[in-house]
Amino acid sequence: MKPRVFISRPIPEKALSIIKNECQVDWWTETETLPPLREKIVGLDGLLTYGHELVTAEMMDTAPNLKVISVMGVGYDHVDVAAATERGIAVGHTPGVLDETVADMIFALLMAVARNILKGDRFVRGGDWRVYNPNILWGAEIHGSTLGIIGMGRIGRAVARRARGFNMKILYHNRHRLPEWEEKLGVQYTSKETLLAEADFIVVLSSLTKQTHRLIGELELAQMKPTAILINAARGPIVDFQALCQALRDGVIAGAGLDVFDPEPPLANDPLLALDNVVLTPHLGSATVRTRTQMALMSAENLLAGLRGESLLYWVNSQVRGQ
Ligand code: DGY
Repeated sequence: MKPRVFISRPIPEKALSIIKNECQVDWWTETETLPPLREKIVGLDGLLTYGHELVTAEMMDTAPNLKVISVMGVGYDHVDVAAATERGIAVGHTPGVLDETVADMIFALLMAVARNILKGDRFVRGGDWRVYNPNILWGAEIHGSTLGIIGMGRIGRAVARRARGFNMKILYHNRHRLPEWEEKLGVQYTSKETLLAEADFIVVLSSLTKQTHRLIGELELAQMKPTAILINAARGPIVDFQALCQALRDGVIAGAGLDVFDPEPPLANDPLLALDNVVLTPHLGSATVRTRTQMALMSAENLLAGLRGESLLYWVNSQVRGQ
């Protein structure tokens, strides 16, 4: 009997066919509705999850043969990893492959907000451009400005490399100081307070944990320059959205570029949607053909390795190995 697996979103055919060769596969083909994961997980041997839906201990208990949870993505904050480890369930993810792609997206957001790209687009399409006016849509200087990176992991470092090309001064704050990268990338470690006070652009890149939940709230926003632009392409709950909305409305900061939300997607009446000093994208950080295909292939390999009882290519909880 082939193992039973569920894939929680449509994935590229290349990856799907690899899984189909070895498994009985049920997969969610809808793009507008969420899979009823609580029901789908019952009795499974393997789960490939792609879409940040919660996978709880209680859900794992309805699948006593569950061997592997393969997350298609680098972040796994939606999976109760401790519960999986306790139950001997391998958890895998797809680190590395998306770092440069997400860093590109962060820069795209940063530049779109700073240089009024979307406002300019609306202006032209809306027929408002009747005569060349040199006094409209003045933006913020990017080159030569100060960038603050909170969370200097692989993606943070990829952002820093891009910033060097723009001749930016780069400050970073991280749980641990990273002297080797300070030299290699020309980045400067500061306290969170100094970073918030001095940066023109603040990029949040921490992973979502209890410690980073609402890392940026009213207090932190008030510490930023009134000209500051905040970029979040990590996880929505790292920023207090109500406080952000208020700060953007009151001119406490100048703008924001957001690829992630809390809740995600935002509700139709979310006041953020009415603000014109934000650029909003639907969690597109790693959304390029090559990267998403690669992520699907990596998560398929992780899934199959876990089902065979082999070591995963990219572990989250390697302590279950050999349990
Ligand atoms: C990730 O890789 O964690 C992204 O959020 C895509 O799901």
